[in-house]
Amino acid sequence: MAKKNIGAHPAVSPIPAFMVSCADKEGNSDIITISYGGIVSANPPMVYISVRDTRYSYPMLKEVNDFVINIPSEDQAKETDYCGITTGRKVDKWKLCNFTEEKGEFVKSPMIKECPVNMECVTRHVIHLGSHDIFLAEVVATHADESVLNDKDKVMIDKVKPFAFCYNIQEYWSLKELIGHYGWSKPELDKDLEKLSTKGE
Ligand SMILES: Cc1cc2nc3c(=O)[nH]c(=O)nc-3n(C[C@H](O)[C@H](O)[C@H](O)COP(=O)(O)O)c2cc1C
Repeated sequence: MAKKNIGAHPAVSPIPAFMVSCADKEGNSDIITISYGGIVSANPPMVYISVRDTRYSYPMLKEVNDFVINIPSEDQAKETDYCGITTGRKVDKWKLCNFTEEKGEFVKSPMIKECPVNMECVTRHVIHLGSHDIFLAEVVATHADESVLNDKDKVMIDKVKPFAFCYNIQEYWSLKELIGHYGWSKPELDKDLEKLSTKGE
């Protein structure tokens, strides 16, 4: 396989595409689509979102210090795109997407009722990078529709049907099928370790 240097790109792919809802102190709210986002710590449970300071939602995120990550299903991919190509300066995305504001337990920002999973997040640090500022936030509650949970209260991917965003080609892709699970390579690893130990005898 011949490799070609295609330049310096943050080519991690796929990445998520989710909707972040936020509000200001007066109760005005907005939704921004985010793909620069993810997990940064398990304990405390911390996530990040990276946001340009030109976004209408940016001062809200700064002012109130909290936000909600709303995980959309495949059938909400259009709305997710819509919230990423229109600004709250011009339109009410809640209205146009037929979304309902739902009050969380801890944060001022509203949750999107129609999304199957919502994470209430409290911002702990904001770091200015370059084009974007990183909001590092603690997840203080996760709400999941009962229909997407298994009997151990784990969120099932085949029920939520989230989708991925491919940054370089700017495309949304569905996640089709299960191909493995955490630790499934262990029997092979054990065999390799055994071979190594017998070699040393
Ligand atoms: C799939 C997708 C992912 C996006 N990811 C980000 C992101 O991570 N950070 C960001 O600042 N803007 C991102 N955007 C752009 C904003 O969502 C977009 O500028 C939006 O109109 C901002 O809304 P607002 O002005 O109401 O805040 C993304 C857009 C799309 C379509």
